[in-house]
Amino acid sequence: MKMNSFSRVGFILAAAGSAVGLGNIWRFPYITGEYGGGAFILVYLLAILFIGLTVFLAEAVIGQSGQSDVSTSFVSLSKSKNKNWKFAGFMVATGLIILSFYSVVLGWILDYVITSFGTLPTEAKVAGGNFENLITNDIGSLIVYHTLIAGSVIFIVLKGIKEGIEKINLILMPLLGLILFGLLMYAFTLDSFSQAVSFMFTPDFSKIDGDALLAALGQAFFTLSLGVGTILTYSASLPKEANFVKSSFMVAIVDTSIALIAGLIIFTYLFAAGAQSAAGPGLVFISLPVIFSGWGTLGNVIAVSFFLALIFAGITSAVSMIEPSLRFFIERFKMTRQKATILCGATFYILGIVALLSMSKSFGAELTFFGKNAFDIMDFMSSSIMMPIAAIIICIFLGYFVDKELLEQKFTKHTSSAVFHTWYLLIRYVVPIAIIILFLNKLGAI
Ligand code: TRP
Repeated sequence: MKMNSFSRVGFILAAAGSAVGLGNIWRFPYITGEYGGGAFILVYLLAILFIGLTVFLAEAVIGQSGQSDVSTSFVSLSKSKNKNWKFAGFMVATGLIILSFYSVVLGWILDYVITSFGTLPTEAKVAGGNFENLITNDIGSLIVYHTLIAGSVIFIVLKGIKEGIEKINLILMPLLGLILFGLLMYAFTLDSFSQAVSFMFTPDFSKIDGDALLAALGQAFFTLSLGVGTILTYSASLPKEANFVKSSFMVAIVDTSIALIAGLIIFTYLFAAGAQSAAGPGLVFISLPVIFSGWGTLGNVIAVSFFLALIFAGITSAVSMIEPSLRFFIERFKMTRQKATILCGATFYILGIVALLSMSKSFGAELTFFGKNAFDIMDFMSSSIMMPIAAIIICIFLGYFVDKELLEQKFTKHTSSAVFHTWYLLIRYVVPIAIIILFLNKLGAI
């Protein structure tokens, strides 16, 4: 097993690679834009600190103690050793569902990397038309892109933790950092930089309502890769004596910094052109290319770099979505990594094809159920149903079904008992209540 575990730095890099993804560079800026900036960011930071980090530590402690897949680790850590805890393993399926459409979105981005070498659209109408055409008409290209992305993910995870996942993170994370650094330096030179700073860091609390709070909470979960067993599974490959508390804080700091940097870059660029901050999901696909087009050849360089950064960030997240199910099949069904990868790889690949076809004009109608296309159903099922349920189970499990002394011992080996007691209070009461409210709201019940 040692052969196939992370080094401590490897773990931090891989967990940060999982956390930093489309959620940071695509989703965070557009929801910050929609909710008006500063105040939303403040709420988001609190959600990360008190709720996200609490669940992150929870997954880390279960994983590091269990040193196995999600199911096995739950059973072995439970007070009663009740075998029924194995059903918590359902959460690994969520990763495959997210990966199905995440791979499709990475496919769109691949198209943007390629087309950014050519002429960029000069008008929002044209840019919007291009985007619309890509996702609803260009099925052939989308299948090729999805296949390329899925193939890369499968190729990487086939090689295992050390040679596959740790290595790809060791290459792509520094590259991502480098590109973001370059994009940030360029943003510094623009006058609109200070406007972006004040948009992001001057809170206007009149813009905060219940919806904004819940959006911040949902984003905190998604960006830290929680509720899927990813952090749990990665932590199972963390050496038993490694400091999981410090590692968790570091991952949260890296993840949050990158989201803020991505926000600064994107808002500076948008404001430089006097563009709207509240452009929604089309922000990076429609608004940005138009802005880049005004910058001549430099615009092409920036466009290609920006979309490459998204690909790099996304690939390291994608590999982390499949790993929990691989580990599950390897440990529980004694499958070889190859066999498990073929099984899980084929599943998400096919689901991805269904997702991409469901957005097309030609097949959309057949793949729409209850007014939602298959792509949206997968998104809704995973983010709004399965992830919150898994997160609640994790909290209830640690708060009520695991020996408190045992947990205290594990925490206080690395941190003060005040930190432990705060965490324990959060995991027993605060976080489950927050998630239940989020959950009911997403279902439209409140
Ligand atoms: N955190 C990643 C992002 O921000 C997405 C991600 C990777 C993820 N693994 C996950 C989300 C597991 C939920 C669960 O893009």
